[in-house]
Amino acid sequence: MLETVVSGIRFSNPLLLASGIMDETADSMIRISKSGAGGIVTKSIGMEEREGYENPVVYELPNGLGLLNAMGLPNPGIENYKNEIKNALKGGVPVIGSIFGKDAGEFLYLSKRMEDYGVHAIELNLSCPHAKGYGMEIGVDENLVEEIVNEVKKSVNIPVWAKLTPNTHKIVDIAKAAEKADALVLINTVRGMAIDVDARVPVLKNVYGGLSGPCIKPIGVRAVYEVYRETQKEIVGVGGILNGRDALEYIMAGAKAVQIGTAIYYRGVGVFHEIASEMREWMKKNKVSKIKELVGIAQVR
Ligand code: FUM
Repeated sequence: MLETVVSGIRFSNPLLLASGIMDETADSMIRISKSGAGGIVTKSIGMEEREGYENPVVYELPNGLGLLNAMGLPNPGIENYKNEIKNALKGGVPVIGSIFGKDAGEFLYLSKRMEDYGVHAIELNLSCPHAKGYGMEIGVDENLVEEIVNEVKKSVNIPVWAKLTPNTHKIVDIAKAAEKADALVLINTVRGMAIDVDARVPVLKNVYGGLSGPCIKPIGVRAVYEVYRETQKEIVGVGGILNGRDALEYIMAGAKAVQIGTAIYYRGVGVFHEIASEMREWMKKNKVSKIKELVGIAQVR
């Protein structure tokens, strides 16, 4: 009922772990695999070990609106990540290796290493909203996006996913620049900040962060809808999915799978099983036997 195929990879359900939460070590990735996720995306991994920013790195918005975070791409570096991947693969679900680099050369090197380590696909982080020289700084430039995607595609034999930023007015142009990617991942977090009024300073040490959770869902759904409409590419939707109806919204906009991140903070690791059963319940009630029947169904022709 929930099985889906993205870039030739079969997932038993469309609910994948989003990059950046509980995905730096094999143990936590296996825990998520055993909790009902259809697939796992790793923490974004770079050329060298990085500590990330100083605390505070996360701020919870009031009223369940979401989270603001600026971790600073902390990661152990690609050379130290081999065993985490090898062990994470024992979780029995596809593992997507997320990488970030400062240019095509770094992305290419990281992709090849990830491929050697055995991941099922690569996710190019072209969208972290606050790391100097990385992510969105590259991902808003169509020429760089095209160069990176094309170079990586030429060099690896596994599918390449491009995770794009919502922090632009030209997401469709950027998606078109990434046309050689096997799938697009929409969206990364929305650049934002918060100020502690009593202390009279920004809340996050890095000042700027990325907003995730329910408050960004309409931005994500719009991005998926618009890009699917203009490109017909395979899309993985992400941003603010907390329950089965949220996931169905993304799928009806055009996504073949979705990623879950902040919902783990709100609902715990059982959220994958819970969202899957909420989706099944809706499908049974509405006499839909396969999730693929719903992909893009809300597109107004
Ligand atoms: O702070 C971080 O590590 C965020 C990464 C991302 O948004 O891609």
